[in-house]
Amino acid sequence: MSNSVESASDTVMLKEVFEGLTKPQKSLPSKYFYDKKGSHLFDEITELEEYYPTRTEIWILENYVDEIASYLGEEVELVEPGSGSSEKTRILLANMPNICCYVPMDISGDYLFKVAEQLQADYPNIKIMPLQADYTQPFDLPEYSPTARKVVFFPGSTIGNFRKERIELFMKVMSEMVGKEGALLIGADLKKDQEVLEAAYNDSKEITAAFNKNILSHINHKLGSDFNTGLFDHKSIWNEKDSRIEMHLIVNKSHSVQVNGTVIDFEKGETIHTENSHKYTLEGFAEMVSPWFEVKKVWTDERDYFSVQYLEPK
Ligand code: AVI
Repeated sequence: MSNSVESASDTVMLKEVFEGLTKPQKSLPSKYFYDKKGSHLFDEITELEEYYPTRTEIWILENYVDEIASYLGEEVELVEPGSGSSEKTRILLANMPNICCYVPMDISGDYLFKVAEQLQADYPNIKIMPLQADYTQPFDLPEYSPTARKVVFFPGSTIGNFRKERIELFMKVMSEMVGKEGALLIGADLKKDQEVLEAAYNDSKEITAAFNKNILSHINHKLGSDFNTGLFDHKSIWNEKDSRIEMHLIVNKSHSVQVNGTVIDFEKGETIHTENSHKYTLEGFAEMVSPWFEVKKVWTDERDYFSVQYLEPK
């Protein structure tokens, strides 16, 4: 039987998948890249020669950690929405004695609590307080000390994958959460040569291609659909007007797919738009966050490929 929708989250997925695939420009929400295999493929992407963001951001954090510490203040409660493995955060935790407490946040609890346990063992002087929550919904932040300054850490240029409304919601929720005295430390990828950008998202080992196609396998697995990944080719293109890399899956042969009993037609040459990854100028980023935050300090690498920015609420 085709209908294998089992849980409430599958119902949401089904609704979002239908919504995307019935638009004139077909699309799928990029959050569905990340099942177990997709998360693993993303980890592989971060190691690729062409994919500069991860290693560049780590370089900036390692190089400027003392200066960053001086901006964050004397007693810091560090909060990380969508913390995952907390790998980059370790650079801060290991080098900033001013961090008294760290709140990693994630929707899925199992991995979050496992990572938190290890962090607590590795950094016994920092109180690790994991919070299982969806940061786009209202949530209560555990308070370690009323005097600690709340600082949100949001690395990876994840903000670049958000739609405008999601950015607005994120900025609003974060500015309210940290309060007037708090701050936001955020990673933002910068605009650069088109060739460098397109190579980063069309790597020669085709790991990004596998990552992109995995969205279809994930949907098959969850919704019982019958996408054939062999009938789609991966392509990332630079969109100058919107200053973003767009990932697409191009249909290489006309065919139909059934999703939960409904047939969806695909014509050769049309695409499913799966992700946007916005690249910023420093001015453009400051302008984008300006309704909520003021950019107080920016750290970049030698080639100005990536930025780590320190923002205070307005
Ligand atoms: C998670 N995010 C910041 C990555 C990016 O660069 O936009 C996702 C990604 N997509 C393809 N490669 C990496």
